Amino acid sequence: MYRMSTQQTLKVFVTRRIPQEGMQILQKAGICNLSVWDSDEPVPRAELLQGVAGAHGLLCLLSDKIDAEVLDAAGPNLKVISTLSVGFDHLAIDEIKKRGIRVGYTPDVLTDATAELTVALLLATCRRLPEGVEEVKNGGWSTWKPLWLCGYGLSGSTVGVIGLGRIGLAIARRLKPFGVKRLLYTGRHPKPQAQEIDGEYVLLDTLVRESDFVVVSCSLTPDTQGLCDKTFFSKMKKTAIFINTSRGAVVNQEDLFGALSSGQIAAAGLDVTTPEPLPTDHPLLTLKNCVVLPHIGSATYSTRGVMSELTANNLLAGLTGSEMPTELKL
Ligand code: NDP
Ligand code: DGY
Repeated sequence: MYRMSTQQTLKVFVTRRIPQEGMQILQKAGICNLSVWDSDEPVPRAELLQGVAGAHGLLCLLSDKIDAEVLDAAGPNLKVISTLSVGFDHLAIDEIKKRGIRVGYTPDVLTDATAELTVALLLATCRRLPEGVEEVKNGGWSTWKPLWLCGYGLSGSTVGVIGLGRIGLAIARRLKPFGVKRLLYTGRHPKPQAQEIDGEYVLLDTLVRESDFVVVSCSLTPDTQGLCDKTFFSKMKKTAIFINTSRGAVVNQEDLFGALSSGQIAAAGLDVTTPEPLPTDHPLLTLKNCVVLPHIGSATYSTRGVMSELTANNLLAGLTGSEMPTELKL
């Protein structure tokens, strides 16, 4: 951990090394006494509890579980939590609200990068790109064969998006030009913005049964936790592809393994898993029809830089009691 010892009285704990754009903003502001867990690895729980003690501001990541224990350890000074993520399922929102703490997060700025990665993962999965690359390297490529490494294409297909929020809509916009015939979506309410992509609002059951590609882009909530389970996969077409770039816990991974290994569904592409990292001996990693990425949806240099800036600016606004660029409405 490093400390920038200044005379400033507003104590801020930063739980990880973050892109320099954000750190520069915090340093230049000249109002923070900064303590940083100066590592690319997550802060151990004990260090988090110690580092946050007496803090006025906490800048955290999606891998930090901010619950009552952390809030108690922080004590009554804590005014603001600013997370370097749009997802906020790692924050105990009820506890935070009860204590009158404000929360900043990073919507919109990562939508394009995450949608782009989702499309990349979908194509890699349905056209079996990792398998193909592996065959080239291991000598499995003997000649051009009519039935070798065939997959499924988007043209003429039905795509179903679970959670047509900022990212879900951006994914749908990008997939439409591939010749998608029907675009189904589900969520808590129909969305007027779905008109733009000719989206049809349907029940989850209809979406799962009729889609050739099921794309999960909803937030993780008590309602969506474990949503994609044995029953869900049993309704999917045998030729369908399942893609998840939301949170790992939306999926029951044992049930997904069963569906993939029994041929109940064709393939899956996951950018998010439970736990993260997924242990290297996890059964899902033994399957050729499962493509797993290490949670890199928003990982472009520019996006991470802008996320860092926004997170810093949210934190400063929370410390000074001014309007945050992007405050989570609690
Ligand atoms: P939004 O809040 O804009 O979208 C979330 C969507 O989830 C909303 O459309 C909401 O629908 C929907 N939703 C909520 N509850 C349900 C439900 N029970 N069933 C179906 N849909 C539901 O957030 P973003 O699009 O910005 O981000 C979505 C999520 O993506 C984040 O929460 C995060 O977990 C994940 N993410 C992952 C990244 C990665 O690196 N892989 C990068 C960025 C985000 P409604 O509006 O009707 O409530
Ligand atoms: C988020 O922001 O919620 C992502 O998971 C990482 O960018």
